[in-house]
Amino acid sequence: MKTLAFFNVKGGVGKTTSAVNIAYLAAQAKLSTLLWDLDPQSCASWYLGVPDNSEHKALRVFKGKTPIGKLRVNSAYPKLQVIPADISLRKLEILLGDEAHSRKLLEKLADNLSEKNKLLVFDCAPAFSKVSENIFTCSDVLVVPLLPSPLALRSFQQLKDYVKGKKQWKHLAIHPFFTMVDKRRKIHNEVIADAKNLVGISDPVCIPYTSELEKMGTHQKPIHQYAARTPGALAYQTLWEQLIDKYALT
Ligand SMILES: Nc1ncnc2c1ncn2[C@@H]1O[C@H](COP(=O)(O)OP(=O)(O)OP(=O)(O)O)[C@@H](O)[C@H]1O
Ligand SMILES: [Mg+2]
Repeated sequence: MKTLAFFNVKGGVGKTTSAVNIAYLAAQAKLSTLLWDLDPQSCASWYLGVPDNSEHKALRVFKGKTPIGKLRVNSAYPKLQVIPADISLRKLEILLGDEAHSRKLLEKLADNLSEKNKLLVFDCAPAFSKVSENIFTCSDVLVVPLLPSPLALRSFQQLKDYVKGKKQWKHLAIHPFFTMVDKRRKIHNEVIADAKNLVGISDPVCIPYTSELEKMGTHQKPIHQYAARTPGALAYQTLWEQLIDKYALT
C-alpha cells in the first residue's frame, strides 16, 4: 500500500479539495483506495457524502478501543472507501502527547489497512503537530498544495527543512503543486515561471481558481462527477498522472 498525505501547515489552501479529487481518480483507475479523514472538521467525508461518525468513534481507534477496519465505510463510488472524521479528533493531539511511543501510532494502525487497500490518502488538518509527525512517518509522499505567493513559498521551505532535517523521514517525498492559480495575476505567473528554483520542481501542476471546484460543496461530489471536462477537473487529472508516474502508485 502506498500512502499520500495532502498536507500544508496553512489552512484553506485546497488540501481537502485535492485529497477528495485525487482519491476519486485513483479509485476510477481501479486502485482500491481509502481516504482517511484526519481533520475534525470532517470536510473530506462530507464532500463524499459520508456522514460524520455519529458515535464519535474516530478517536477511539487511536486509544485501541475500536479496530481501525470497523471505521472503514464504502463511498458512493466503486473502489473508494472512507474513514470519516468527527469532532472527537480534536483531542488526538493531546492523546499523542501523552503516549510514550506515539510517533508511529498512525503507521501501526495503517498497517492493518494494507490487506484491503492499495492506496491510502490522508486529508490532514492545517497544523504542525504530533499528528503531523505521525503523518510524516506513515506516508510515502506529502502532497503539498501551495498558493503561488511568497509567503506560501516561505512556509513550504520551512516544511522541507524540517522534514529533511530528521533521519526518520528520509523516506518521505515532498510533492508541491499550485492551487487557486489566477493567470491574470502577475505574481502567480512569476512564481510559477520560477518554480524550479522556488519549489524544486520544473513542471508543477497548476490547479486554476475556478468556481467549478468551489461547487464541490454544493454537489457534495468530486468535480469529475459533475464537471469532468472543465479546466479544474483536467488539472487534477494531470496531477494524478504526475503522481502515478513519479511514485509508481499503480
Ligand atoms: N482551485 C480552487 N478554486 C476555487 N476555489 C477553491 C479551489 N480549491 C479550493 N477551493 C475552495 O477554497 C476553500 C478551501 O478549500 P479546502 O477546504 O480544500 O482547503 P483546505 O486546505 O482543506 O482547508 P482547511 O485547512 O480548512 O482544511 C473551499 O471553499 C474550496 O471550495
Ligand atoms: Mg481541509
